[in-house]
Amino acid sequence: MSRKIGIIAGSLRKGAYTKSVAKAVQDMFPKGWEVTMIEFGHLPLFSQDYEEDGQNPASYTAFRNQIGAQDAFVFVTPEYNRSIPGGLKNALDVASRPYSENKWNGKPAAVISSSIGRIGGFGANHHLRQVMTFLNMPPVQQPEVYLSEVQDMLDEQGNLNSPEVRGLLQSVVDALVKMLEK
Ligand SMILES: Cc1cc2nc3c(=O)[nH]c(=O)nc-3n(C[C@H](O)[C@H](O)[C@H](O)COP(=O)(O)O)c2cc1C
Repeated sequence: MSRKIGIIAGSLRKGAYTKSVAKAVQDMFPKGWEVTMIEFGHLPLFSQDYEEDGQNPASYTAFRNQIGAQDAFVFVTPEYNRSIPGGLKNALDVASRPYSENKWNGKPAAVISSSIGRIGGFGANHHLRQVMTFLNMPPVQQPEVYLSEVQDMLDEQGNLNSPEVRGLLQSVVDALVKMLEK
């Protein structure tokens, strides 16, 4: 059965390593599955006032609908100060509201973190898993994916040049596919 997968790279940077990793992951799903890169950089910072005034930005409605239309997600996040970047947290918050209309609810997700440093975004990876718990998103538990010194895994065009890392990414995608097929 065909599925819809949303891939979310947590960085807004033009040349983001996480975007390159996300692009590599995009081609790893079964044929016929609809795999979409989801953008969130245009979303205004969330304020609960929007809900109380009944005046949500139009971009919120479109984003919530897009999240609601997916069956599952892959997050590829960098680490900012041992957590996820603020833009990604904002996107998670936007589609979690209004209360009782959490668009992430029940949708499985794989988490991939990366860093130019040596601990592969471990802090960001686990902060994201903590948020996913409250959003009721079943995580792919294994394999865990922490990509250290990610810049060395990519060529100048941003193509992933490590067969070993490609294999690891394929195995986390396969685990997500298996969850969806159960
Ligand atoms: C605000 C900020 C905070 C950062 N904090 C961390 C950190 O806690 N741990 C880490 O490994 N790298 C940290 N970095 C470095 C990032 O790993 C690096 O900038 C990386 O390229 C960001 O991912 P991207 O290429 O997908 O944009 C930080 C970078 C920025 C801009």
